[in-house]
Amino acid sequence: MAQTALITGASSGIGEAFARALAKPGNTLILVARSKAKLEALAKKLRADHGIAVEVIAADLSQAGCGPRLAAEVAQRGLRVDLLVNNAGFGSAGAFVKEEPARDAEMINLNVSAVVELAHAFLPAMLERGQGGILNVASVAGFQPTPHMAIYGATKAFVLSFSESLWAETRGRGVKVTALCPGPVDTPFFEATGNPELRKAVPKGMMMDADRVVAQALAALEAGRPVVVPGASNKLVTWAPRLLPRRWMTLASAAVMGR
Ligand SMILES: NC(=O)c1ccc[n+]([C@@H]2O[C@H](COP(=O)([O-])OP(=O)(O)OC[C@H]3O[C@@H](n4cnc5c(N)ncnc54)[C@H](OP(=O)(O)O)[C@@H]3O)[C@@H](O)[C@H]2O)c1
Repeated sequence: MAQTALITGASSGIGEAFARALAKPGNTLILVARSKAKLEALAKKLRADHGIAVEVIAADLSQAGCGPRLAAEVAQRGLRVDLLVNNAGFGSAGAFVKEEPARDAEMINLNVSAVVELAHAFLPAMLERGQGGILNVASVAGFQPTPHMAIYGATKAFVLSFSESLWAETRGRGVKVTALCPGPVDTPFFEATGNPELRKAVPKGMMMDADRVVAQALAALEAGRPVVVPGASNKLVTWAPRLLPRRWMTLASAAVMGR
């Protein structure tokens, strides 16, 4: 049955791939990000290609109160949200002491606080209806500390833990919650970290295509799985911290991230 999906960070990369994938079966889409022109262009294409309704909401989700504001805007447009895709996020690469405190705060607000605010905004109604889904985009970076991307890894550890808790709390109540934990995905994410060398540090064959990642995420949500890690080598990366001492993992991670 076609539903309404709200996708944050739909103007680029994985979010745009979610929009394309969810448009195919005829869902109504609500696309959210700051870049209004990019969202409008994508909405126009999806309406033309699939004959679906697509709403665009330009919003900065790093601002406190983004959840209630977005919920009010959605209600004002006479829509409800059946599937929430909390995808907007960014990382910053480099030594912690060289990071701008304001940029760190922006990252925590977007990667963590907005995810919580949007869950507060839309989950209660899903539970009342006994139907719905939340897909939170975490990362393999959430499974162990990530020195040289210290704040980013910590935000994704939050998203992973939070999503698993929501999965358990909503289980059997008609609402599915899944944390998507990708490894490297070929998107402008790397350039946004401020370290153009980061993309080159990705081992050959590990970079995944956003459409493939999204297909696995939607299948996992459908199957009611709490966590999905696309790609065999990424799965291995997330198993290592369960087998090795955390100190070793932290130092290994520092060696990889500090390259
Ligand atoms: N690519 C990877 O290797 C990788 C791996 C693991 C996890 N992830 C996660 O995947 C998610 C999507 O990233 P991506 O790879 O698709 O990167 P991307 O292409 O840079 O997309 C990031 C999206 O977030 C939006 N965004 C950024 N700041 C925002 C703000 N303040 N308010 C609202 N929207 C904002 C951007 O749109 P505007 O600039 O228009 O606002 C854009 O649509 C992120 O959560 C990222 O951490 C990525």
